Amino acid sequence: MISFAPDSGVYLLATPNSSYALRVDESGTPRHLAWGPRLTLEEAAALVGPEVPMASSFEGVSPLGEELPVDGGARYGPPSLQVRFADGSRAFEWQPTGQHVTDDKLELGFRDRNYPLDVTLHYRVHADSDVIERWTVVRNAGDEPVTLLRTDSAAWALPPLRHYRLSHVTGQWCAESQLRREELSYGETVLTSRRGVTSHHANPWVMLDAGEATEEHGRVWSATLAWSGSWRITAQRTPDGRAGFTGGIGHDGTNVPLAPGEELTTPPFAAVCTDGGFGAASRAWHAYTIAHVVPHPEELAPVLYNSWEATGFDVDEVSQKALAERAAELGVELYVVDDGWFGARRSDHAGLGDWTPTPERFPNGLTPLVDTVHGLGMKFGLWVEPEMVNPDSDLYREHPDWVLHFTDRPRTELRNQLVLNFARRDVADWAYGWLTRLVGDHGIDFLKWDMNRAFSEAGWPGQPDGSDRLGPQYVRNLYGVIDRLRADHPALRIEACSGGGGRVDLGILSRTDQAWASDNTDAADRMGIQHGYGQVYPARTMGAWVTDVPNQLTDRTVPLRFRFHVAMAGALGIGGDLTHWSEDELREAAALVAEYKQVRHLVQHGRLDRLSPPGQDTVSGVQYTATDGSETLLLAYRRVGRSGAQHLPVRLRGLTPGARYRDACTGVVHHATVLAEYGLQIDLPSGDWSSTALHLVREPEA
Ligand code: GLA
Repeated sequence: MISFAPDSGVYLLATPNSSYALRVDESGTPRHLAWGPRLTLEEAAALVGPEVPMASSFEGVSPLGEELPVDGGARYGPPSLQVRFADGSRAFEWQPTGQHVTDDKLELGFRDRNYPLDVTLHYRVHADSDVIERWTVVRNAGDEPVTLLRTDSAAWALPPLRHYRLSHVTGQWCAESQLRREELSYGETVLTSRRGVTSHHANPWVMLDAGEATEEHGRVWSATLAWSGSWRITAQRTPDGRAGFTGGIGHDGTNVPLAPGEELTTPPFAAVCTDGGFGAASRAWHAYTIAHVVPHPEELAPVLYNSWEATGFDVDEVSQKALAERAAELGVELYVVDDGWFGARRSDHAGLGDWTPTPERFPNGLTPLVDTVHGLGMKFGLWVEPEMVNPDSDLYREHPDWVLHFTDRPRTELRNQLVLNFARRDVADWAYGWLTRLVGDHGIDFLKWDMNRAFSEAGWPGQPDGSDRLGPQYVRNLYGVIDRLRADHPALRIEACSGGGGRVDLGILSRTDQAWASDNTDAADRMGIQHGYGQVYPARTMGAWVTDVPNQLTDRTVPLRFRFHVAMAGALGIGGDLTHWSEDELREAAALVAEYKQVRHLVQHGRLDRLSPPGQDTVSGVQYTATDGSETLLLAYRRVGRSGAQHLPVRLRGLTPGARYRDACTGVVHHATVLAEYGLQIDLPSGDWSSTALHLVREPEA
């Protein structure tokens, strides 16, 4: 997959449908050559041209030609690597020190010409994916400290295009993943989180296209940063019509100190070039995430119940057992007790940090409830928020110095809580200790790992360079605690949560099994959130619950069936107060859970085709198909019925041409060619909030 031509100096990374080419030029600088459709090594070498002379004394080196644009010399673009040496000197001057080429990995080593600072560019490809992973390792090989002012994982350059369009998501709590597509501005567009966490407000991925891509057609260049702390991606469009982007850890103004002998390995900033529109770009990310990111690619997510919307903080053994019995009758496979089971936790004002079951609520600890849940045939899950503390807690009274703070500054509380400094080893060890005991002692199968506020006053008094080291070290220690916990308890599964979808990224997904996409469980709002979430992240990882109506957040009432059909587009869960559901509702819910189990392998492991985006009075639909085309599921929705609205047939995708498919419910047989080319007239019930699920199974060849 990776080859090198010594005569031209070209390295070629060949994925199944794309090529990436680069070269170390005569000055020793790694230069970008190509990223797009497949090329041979010889064709890639033809792209090596003479150096273009600077047009004037005001231009400088092209900011998009370097593999990792550095600060220094006549460079004026956003640097991906910016260093300051102990003597105050800046810049990095490329000098090659060696290469290591294998079939799937490329490492290019460099050292600054005058200072003992080593930079290694890493590339990795996979035989089954067009995604190319890149990261950078910076090592201080000298005996004086170095300051890294910016250390991006990678920079990606697009070929010259007449137009550039940027797709990304913005959001807020309860409104994550709102998809935006807008012309890429000339200059620099910064997408970032300064919150210490991935954030609800932006997510570390970008897609660029020539402004012409649709859901099904067109070339798209996209990239995703695998990092769960603060981050920054800068997309750039230059006056001479070029575009690219650079991305990495930390926001503006972040410094990372590098002591003598110390090394920084950045997280991967992976990217993919796809043909076939935004749909194909999303599918490339889904397949890559399932195959190469999540820890248990072969598993299907269980149907989950979570108590949060039913009980709030009011959890106790008796009421949880009652809910668990009802959940089991519905076919739930994993029962999760949410916030409120520990310490003095009666509201969000107290108790965080004191992780022992509240005696009045659980007089004999958690074990009787865990046993009941297991006895009902379900796995047992528990909510934890290990990175947080309420000032009103025994933990804080004992360790007030454990939180992020500056000596002479206030400690800003958000949701009445402070952030524990996970960058501190003692804090991380403490968290690992109680977590591994909690899981081991109670036979806990699943943790919902929450994180309910952004950083503020992110200081670490007493630690030299503390506030600079804190950001990356916090995330590394967080990852370390989760990794140790998983190693101790191989059967443990974890849900990533941060007030809903505040920490969804490929870094956390590489060590958790699913993510809670949003605290907003309103089916109508969810359709937009899920549409944005699924641009990059697969349905397997997207927790989606059916909750009560009127919805707690929006006051909207949507039929149970519609709520189910929306949640069935992800990893289905239920979060309503089942003790108040009528017999009819419970019966309908049980039938829908059973139906989901028949098709969840398609949702969670199949290919996603977004047939039409969520809209008001139009029919929108998502289709999940087995990768071999043997089965497909169509979920179709119409929120508002309107007289005179067009009823256009929906054209299905991913079917085996010429084959026939049987409707698993009605037995009606359809021709794949008709479904694909002329479409299916979907028979949605009249009225508002109408939805359907259609499961088609390929007939054996006659
Ligand atoms: C966050 C989560 C919710 C719930 C509450 C509990 O907001 O996203 O699902 O767990 O915390 O306090």
